[in-house]
Amino acid sequence: MTLHESLLDAVGDTPLVRLTRIASGVPAPVYAKVEFFNPAGSVKDRAALGMVLAAEKSGALAPGGVIVEGTSGNTGMALAMIAAQRGYGSIVVVPDRTSPEKIKTLEAYGAEVVVTTGALPREHPEHVRNVATRLAARTPGAWYANQYDNPANPEAHRTTTGPEIWAETGGRVTHFVVGVGTGGTVTGTGGFLKEASGGLVRVIGADPLTSTYSGGDGSPYYVESIGHYLHPRTAEDEYPESYDPSVVDRFERIGDRESIMTVRRLAREEGILAGGSAGTAVAAALRVAAALTPDDLVVVLLPDSGRGYLSKYFDDGWLRRFGFLEDLADTPTVADVLGDRPAPLTALPSTATVADALHAAGALVPVRLPRSGGNATTDVSEVIGAVRPQALRALVAGDPSASAAPLRRHLLPSPPAVGIGEPVDEATARLDPDTGTAWVLVDGRVSGTITHDALSPARAAGPAGRAT
Ligand SMILES: Cc1ncc(COP(=O)(O)O)c(C=O)c1O
Repeated sequence: MTLHESLLDAVGDTPLVRLTRIASGVPAPVYAKVEFFNPAGSVKDRAALGMVLAAEKSGALAPGGVIVEGTSGNTGMALAMIAAQRGYGSIVVVPDRTSPEKIKTLEAYGAEVVVTTGALPREHPEHVRNVATRLAARTPGAWYANQYDNPANPEAHRTTTGPEIWAETGGRVTHFVVGVGTGGTVTGTGGFLKEASGGLVRVIGADPLTSTYSGGDGSPYYVESIGHYLHPRTAEDEYPESYDPSVVDRFERIGDRESIMTVRRLAREEGILAGGSAGTAVAAALRVAAALTPDDLVVVLLPDSGRGYLSKYFDDGWLRRFGFLEDLADTPTVADVLGDRPAPLTALPSTATVADALHAAGALVPVRLPRSGGNATTDVSEVIGAVRPQALRALVAGDPSASAAPLRRHLLPSPPAVGIGEPVDEATARLDPDTGTAWVLVDGRVSGTITHDALSPARAAGPAGRAT
């Protein structure tokens, strides 16, 4: 008989499910720990419950108290759910790009939602975590959960996720694959599995390609909640204290397109509707399992459900707008007009001079926020303007001293962006009305430009104009 005294008793004990189809071509069996079975829908229920219980024990959170956290994601929902069940207030600070569904879910649990500006450097007073800290300091009875630096976060995984996987596999697990956000899951679960196996279990972090955890430049990526993004103006980058890098044996670095395509396959081939970070983790697990034997056993953790991402990764229109899907039967697309994939445009950092731009390839060149290491492809969110090298060459021909001037003095507004897979009609409607230009995105990155003149013939020709 299993009677639950409250919903909190239903946190954890999630199923471990074999991936039978998507992993049919790899030698080692792959099992998925499906964390959307948790009551608020994600792996974060474990960390949130662990943090609340620890705060109650230490007296940091007392009856009548208020739980405060800064997060756009699942931790907020988990804490709001727990606050409701245990009779606390809750305040969740979210960045302004948070979807209305997420805000409404938090409010449905009775949380107060405070919206602040997103994409700010860590030091900025309006950064989510700084707003949350301030609110916690001035709210009577408040306790700031702070999942990034709270040892109860990894500890919850050391005492629940890890032991569950060990017991469910009868100690046969050999490899554990998971994304790293705060690092709580990998640190606690991976740490436990290593101890239990006498150091035999290998722990593999599944990381977005540009995340700094696995050596990327920290530029933006499209999979949410994992990896380490670095704002170009962040002075001192710090990893969360919840993350112990020594637990990770190695990383598999996965691009956005591979993550997204994998999570879509997971839904269609396994019937498991999971979120984008699960796509990253499963893509990594498949790579890991491909190099193993049938005697090995890979466990991959799926953090949350795909329900929260239906209008992104599971929406063909969204994928086309950002250049993740290209083929569209019977309708000419930007890809058809461009013919061969354009040679990637190299963006110039805003710290460059006019001289740096004189030999740049392309009629219109993006100018991006500077970041160390540089990036050959540029996420559209980091483009702050554009320059026309031809115009700059004419300028310097007339006045050679102009070449030393900073490029930002000659910045033109950045045009809109269209996806390489967008239908020609839709792309035409979104061109800059003055210049008739747009960036072309491939995998969310600026890869070329397209003009009204290039699109018009295809538009006039209609579906028959599609190149074959
Ligand atoms: C969807 C999703 N995936 C992965 C993670 C990463 O887990 P952790 O913070 O334990 O590293 C999170 C954490 O917020 C998440 O919400």
